Amino acid sequence: MSSSPFLRVWQPDLFKDKVAFVTGGSGTICKRQAEALVTLGCSVAIIGRNSEKATAAASELNQIREDVRAIGIGDCDVRKLDDLVRAVKKTVDELGRIDFVICGAAGNFIADFNSLSANAFKTVVDIDLLGSFNTVKACYNELKKNKGVVLFVSATFHYYGVPFQAHVGAAKAGIDALSNALAVELGPIGVRVNAIAPGAIGNTEGYRKLSSGSPMQKKIPLQKLGSTDDIAQATIFLFSNAAQYITGTVQIVDGGFWHMGPLV
Ligand code: HXC
Repeated sequence: MSSSPFLRVWQPDLFKDKVAFVTGGSGTICKRQAEALVTLGCSVAIIGRNSEKATAAASELNQIREDVRAIGIGDCDVRKLDDLVRAVKKTVDELGRIDFVICGAAGNFIADFNSLSANAFKTVVDIDLLGSFNTVKACYNELKKNKGVVLFVSATFHYYGVPFQAHVGAAKAGIDALSNALAVELGPIGVRVNAIAPGAIGNTEGYRKLSSGSPMQKKIPLQKLGSTDDIAQATIFLFSNAAQYITGTVQIVDGGFWHMGPLV
């Protein structure tokens, strides 16, 4: 049996000849999503602000399968639509098309309201929410042509108030609203739109920032942290034809944690 956790569940050519456009693709969670897609035959463009990181991530992905290509595109700030338009053009020039879009670029830090400057709030809303909008806008023609699928990256912070996360909660609530609106608007042209809401995912920058060194495992109904594989497996499902009738949903991948309330 294959050592890849993805090949233990899915057919190896599930995404053969497909192409994914992944912003934030050099980050821990999105890189694993990209690895899962490549493992199943999908070529990938990794989009980031940092060219070296994007190129390094693509080089790693190119070791997985000979018949699949990964490219890294740096100097792309999702706050700037023109950067994304250039990245989409390069992706189509080099990989031929775009079928799947992951709006993964995000920023986060812990800050109490009084320390949060207007520019700090705006920066996170611009990266997370405006950046997601710009990404879909730049990919629109390819999504329409190929009846593509969009995956936004949300969170659970905004289901109730979580202290020191006002900026992220506001941005992610906006992403849910954007996802719902686009699911309804783009459904008739054959484009599906969903969001994924990761919980506490071990070995990530986000978990280190938000857990403040206090282990969370015992507070989670499933009694363990999530893994990047858990997010990747849900991503495969939502992109696959198994989810062909699923649009306008938020797939929460958090071991049931958000049901416990914000201050457990
Ligand atoms: C308060 C802060 C701050 C902090 C920055 N700012 N860090 N304020 N506390 N820790 C303020 C700055 O002072 C500035 O405001 C404004 O934010 C913009 O900061 P810049 O550094 O100029 O912005 P930029 O270079 O664009 O950096 C964006 C960033 C940065 C979000 C601030 O942290 C970043 O790029 N992060 C990307 C990586 C990341 O965060 N990954 C984790 C994602 S995890 P002033 O007023 O001084 O001008 C995630 C979900 C986790 O998103 C979920 C886990 C469950």
